[in-house]
Amino acid sequence: MSARAETHEFGSIALPAANWEPARPVLELLRMRHSSREFGPREIDQRALATLLWAAFGVNRDDRGGRTAPSAHDWREIEIYAVLARGAYRYDAPASVLHLVATGDLRAMTGVQNFVGSAPLDLVYVADFAKMIDATPEQRTFYAAADAAVVAQNVYLFCACTGMATVVRGLVDRRRLAPALGLDPKQRIVLAQTVGYPP
Ligand SMILES: Cc1cc2nc3c(=O)[nH]c(=O)nc-3n(C[C@H](O)[C@H](O)[C@H](O)COP(=O)(O)O)c2cc1C
Repeated sequence: MSARAETHEFGSIALPAANWEPARPVLELLRMRHSSREFGPREIDQRALATLLWAAFGVNRDDRGGRTAPSAHDWREIEIYAVLARGAYRYDAPASVLHLVATGDLRAMTGVQNFVGSAPLDLVYVADFAKMIDATPEQRTFYAAADAAVVAQNVYLFCACTGMATVVRGLVDRRRLAPALGLDPKQRIVLAQTVGYPP
């Protein structure tokens, strides 16, 4: 690991600074972007994890704490849960902290395909409907899906840039996973995305 990460009491993790090198032109990344369903055993170190989460939906400007992905009405309702072998964490972008939400290995619970339990990281995109002020139920579902998809594409581009492997997934056992992550009824699992290195 090239940067130090601090571990808080209660098991939360203060992420190291993101690493913006090496940068590649976005058009080159778009040519490389693809889904992968085969993952090797290599772990993701904390600096890479910090950069990945920043690329996904981190704070990219001082102006009102704007994010790397757009969101409808600037609701910022998508919360990223990072499910690792050692536990599940909620990404707090402004604080750059991973808050521990569940101990133990929940990776297999994030999907139904055989690679989800063995790849090092499964991201789960959760929409907090409570943040979607004045939206109808139909609008909440529609915009949450759109907003999560933009975050997923950011992760695809990050993976293309760093030689990592990823696939976004609609196949999620939401009924089983939601209580395991401690979600309340206003928090809805939209998509998941597996991330790792190629075999
Ligand atoms: C909303 C959405 C849901 C998806 N769900 C799954 C899934 O559950 N499992 C899976 O293996 N791939 C899933 N995919 C990946 C697609 O199968 C993949 O993007 C498509 O085959 C095109 O391949 P490419 O990404 O390499 O261009 C999903 C993609 C999207 C956009």
